[in-house]
Amino acid sequence: MRISIIAGNWKMYKTEEEAFLLASDLKRRLNDVAGVKVIICPPFTGLSSVKKAIENSPILLGAQNMHWEEKGAYTGEISSPMLLTAGCKYVIIGHSERRNLFFETDDAVNLKIKSALKFNLSPIICLGEKLDQREANKTEEVVENQLRRAFKDLSVQEAEKTVIAYEPVWAIGTGKTATPQQANEAHLFIRELLSSEFSRECAEKINILYGGSVKPENSRELLKMSEIDGALVGGASLDAESFEKIVRSAT
Ligand code: 13P
Repeated sequence: MRISIIAGNWKMYKTEEEAFLLASDLKRRLNDVAGVKVIICPPFTGLSSVKKAIENSPILLGAQNMHWEEKGAYTGEISSPMLLTAGCKYVIIGHSERRNLFFETDDAVNLKIKSALKFNLSPIICLGEKLDQREANKTEEVVENQLRRAFKDLSVQEAEKTVIAYEPVWAIGTGKTATPQQANEAHLFIRELLSSEFSRECAEKINILYGGSVKPENSRELLKMSEIDGALVGGASLDAESFEKIVRSAT
């Protein structure tokens, strides 16, 4: 049985103090929540204050990106051991904003996933097609290619520790959500691919989250689909009341 995951990707929002206040509010609101894993991913500068704010609460900490090397002359980068010692359990890898705005390649995604796993961080691996690709009926081709390259050379044991987020690029920050059926279809396709790459048992263990304009108004419909094991929430995770509602809709 997969336990639903609701993860908040705060992107480049919230100063250190604002991050502390939002996380403290979420701790108050979500302390009694059970049967769902809650993860929040502030920007790097918010990790330390958020870690303090969520102490002794069920909320888990995640980061939004990392470099694949452990250390070195890589100005501006952060490594897996740094995230681990900052209290992270999860790290988002291959978000479409990183792929499209910062030219992150599938090979880089693969290296980052391997490094995260080596240091016991669970990677939340983002996949998803752009609008023109969907319109050209290339969704499956794009997602398959991203998935195969992201998971290249991973063992079954490693693959089982990952989380996937299917985030169609056309649904991110646009207010245009995939319908529950569209999302479920893509998730089913991803699970079949995982099953053929690894094993059925392994595929059944991996949470596949949906991301793209998830709001309190649509989360319940999405989350009740058989293949949707949670959500990766952008904009609506910046507001404590909205995020709480999304979390509760998963229970
Ligand atoms: P929105 O929920 O703002 O569409 O963002 C989704 C996302 O990119 C989460 O990673």
